[in-house]
Amino acid sequence: MSNVRVAVIGCGYWGQNLLRNFCELEGADVVMVCDFDPRSLNRVTRRYPSIEVTPSYGDVLANPRVDAVVIATPVSTHYSLAKQALSANKHVLVEKPLAQSASQVLDLMELSERMGKTLMVDHTFLYTGAVRRMKTLVDSGDIGQLLYFDSVRISLGLVQSDINVLWDLGPHDLAIMDYLCGQTPVAIAATGVKHLNTPYENVAYVTVQFGNNFIAHFHLNWLAPVKVRRTLVGGSKKMIVYDDMENIEKVKVYDKGIVQTHDPDRREKMLTGYRNGDMFAPQLEGSEALRLMAREFVASIVEKRAPLSDGNAGYRVVRLLEAAQRSIEENGRLIYLDQESLWSETSADTSTVAAAD
Ligand SMILES: NC(=O)c1ccc[n+]([C@@H]2O[C@H](COP(=O)([O-])OP(=O)(O)OC[C@H]3O[C@@H](n4cnc5c(N)ncnc54)[C@H](O)[C@@H]3O)[C@@H](O)[C@H]2O)c1
Repeated sequence: MSNVRVAVIGCGYWGQNLLRNFCELEGADVVMVCDFDPRSLNRVTRRYPSIEVTPSYGDVLANPRVDAVVIATPVSTHYSLAKQALSANKHVLVEKPLAQSASQVLDLMELSERMGKTLMVDHTFLYTGAVRRMKTLVDSGDIGQLLYFDSVRISLGLVQSDINVLWDLGPHDLAIMDYLCGQTPVAIAATGVKHLNTPYENVAYVTVQFGNNFIAHFHLNWLAPVKVRRTLVGGSKKMIVYDDMENIEKVKVYDKGIVQTHDPDRREKMLTGYRNGDMFAPQLEGSEALRLMAREFVASIVEKRAPLSDGNAGYRVVRLLEAAQRSIEENGRLIYLDQESLWSETSADTSTVAAAD
């Protein structure tokens, strides 16, 4: 089969990384780059003189040599650009989050199905060695029953001009949680605040509830003095700490827990003991996540199969973002997620979730 011919749309901070990975990927040829900004295009031409550049998206859509487009433009443009590409019979990879509302994602999914074209979202962390190793640990049963997922993603962030911290950083952790836990959330609550001279929240605390006492919490902040990228996955048998700032031992698995037994003398009394077993740091695969993500996009096109981070995965994440945004706007009100519609709301207006760090 001939190589998949790719065009990259938006070649700013992240688009350059995508461009490099697709250029290096066996089975793909980057034939075009499109960006409004002539400085971005000049940078591309200096580095990759054989790639055609254009400021016009119409040129890309009209080019029959382009099989697939990779969209790395601001979030507010994702839906429209992806829709145009699918309508022009191109496969589409969109940066996270896939779109700005769940209904937009459903629309893109329906269109990709109708056109017989791949729709994929770049949930980058699903392709990291750390998250893939955590997935095998969870799936093997080593961790036991999942109890909680707790993530902190904070730093002096790249403040975005069209979205808040929830929509910027939240997709990473929601996608990791969705992938690792594979459970259907029941309700979500979020609070967020604005401290910067923009209309968007720069701090957000999000809590997701599940039906079986599993709970997830997300702390997102663009205004923190230190960079923290840390996730805890608590299980009934073991617990995982994933620290993405660590260079070597990013994932540590702790054989720790609380053991409760009945007091033999007084049956109504519980005795609490602590299990302080070994910690081990599994060996992780070191490939660049974006390389694996790009490879998955091309493979899914060639093999005519759904990619790992397909439209459904994008939908599950955007649906949570949308409900969390709604909760922020309603001062932390608990929003019940419904399987039939996008969400239904609780009648109890008073229920909120404590969202302390
Ligand atoms: N997966 C990740 O880890 C990750 C990391 C950073 C950013 N991102 C995502 O990448 C996307 C881009 O973010 P960024 O930080 O690179 O932004 P950026 O502003 O640095 O780059 C965006 C580029 O798109 C161009 N552009 C905007 N609208 C366009 C249009 N209609 N046609 C052609 N070009 C257009 C701009 O000129 C700019 O060069 C966002 O969706 C963001 O969420 C993902």
